[in-house]
Amino acid sequence: MDYRKLGSTGIKISPFVLGTMQMGWRVDEEESFKIMDKALELGINCFDTADIYSRWAENSYAGKTEEIIGRWLKDRGTREDLILATKARGQMSTDVNDQGLSRRHLRQALAGSLKRLKTKWIDLYQIHSFDSETTIEETLQTLTNFVDQGKVNYIGASNIHPWMLLESFWVSDKRGYAKFETVQPPYSIVRRSLVEYQMQHVIEKYNMGVIPYSPLAGGFLTDRYAKDEPLPDTPRSEGAQKRYFTEKRWKIHATVKDIAEAKEATMPQIALAWILSKKFISGPIIGANSVEQLVENVGALEINLDKDDLAWLDEVSDWKEEYELIK
Ligand SMILES: NC(=O)c1ccc[n+]([C@@H]2O[C@H](COP(=O)([O-])OP(=O)(O)OC[C@H]3O[C@@H](n4cnc5c(N)ncnc54)[C@H](OP(=O)(O)O)[C@@H]3O)[C@@H](O)[C@H]2O)c1
Repeated sequence: MDYRKLGSTGIKISPFVLGTMQMGWRVDEEESFKIMDKALELGINCFDTADIYSRWAENSYAGKTEEIIGRWLKDRGTREDLILATKARGQMSTDVNDQGLSRRHLRQALAGSLKRLKTKWIDLYQIHSFDSETTIEETLQTLTNFVDQGKVNYIGASNIHPWMLLESFWVSDKRGYAKFETVQPPYSIVRRSLVEYQMQHVIEKYNMGVIPYSPLAGGFLTDRYAKDEPLPDTPRSEGAQKRYFTEKRWKIHATVKDIAEAKEATMPQIALAWILSKKFISGPIIGANSVEQLVENVGALEINLDKDDLAWLDEVSDWKEEYELIK
């Protein structure tokens, strides 16, 4: 595998990051172990999780996914082989203070993640999203302490606005705090503008690492979805319908399908190969539900999209007409 530098950090990650959000509810522990084994065998050296996973699911709770990963790390003895990324911010219990980016909560959150993951350190500790009730100074100072204590190697931010990132850089510089090195936004061929409008400029100017999530739009970019057909039987299909069922996105879906057929590839492989062609992306986070899906998705590395394919995909998914851009 062709490992890439993670922004301006000194570490390298595989071109795909393994997502784990599905582990503990959609995928049981046994299959989760098989997926992690296969990912490592395929050369994927970076896993992404979050303390909150999988609180939303029936018969599950916040922290369950990290517990599964922790048992796997211990059982396989693989901690040293991995770049482990997790996140904090979400509501972990009914306690009003057991959420957010306050010093109190972050200390509690990190202690919980380290315990569940059975590790002494986190490679990339990310804020899951911003917290408008806590100052960025308080958050960054707390995260800097974690780095100083050797419990965290790098810090990153998910679901954050570009102006917030810039403000955080200013505070980090001014106070000598650790700096957000990575971002984790949603990004796919059917959801480009959030990243490409403004955020991409910040990413490139500050040489940030980028590990985008939902590269298959939560499963929409597969042939299980078809226009005017019944929804597929998956817990995510109603969410996909609400977010992605528009005329324009069906056109993108059809284009991905046509190119997949012409190349004897699958739709996920084409959608992922398109993301891999974007040089500012470090590695998309893939959320496979089975070993078969994982192997299929990693097969995107073998797909060669030529200039015409890329131009066609870029054109059908272009978003710039929706914005009045200041040149
Ligand atoms: N920071 C955040 O706020 C945030 C939010 C979401 C996710 N994430 C991270 O990003 C990871 C990936 O996100 P995601 O799950 O939304 O990614 P995704 O790749 O867009 O969607 C994954 C879904 O696509 C379907 N799928 C994947 N491979 C397939 C294949 N080969 N054939 C057919 N269907 C396939 C499965 O859908 P079905 O379940 O319908 O079978 C799977 O659940 C998560 O695991 C998590 O680590 C972060």
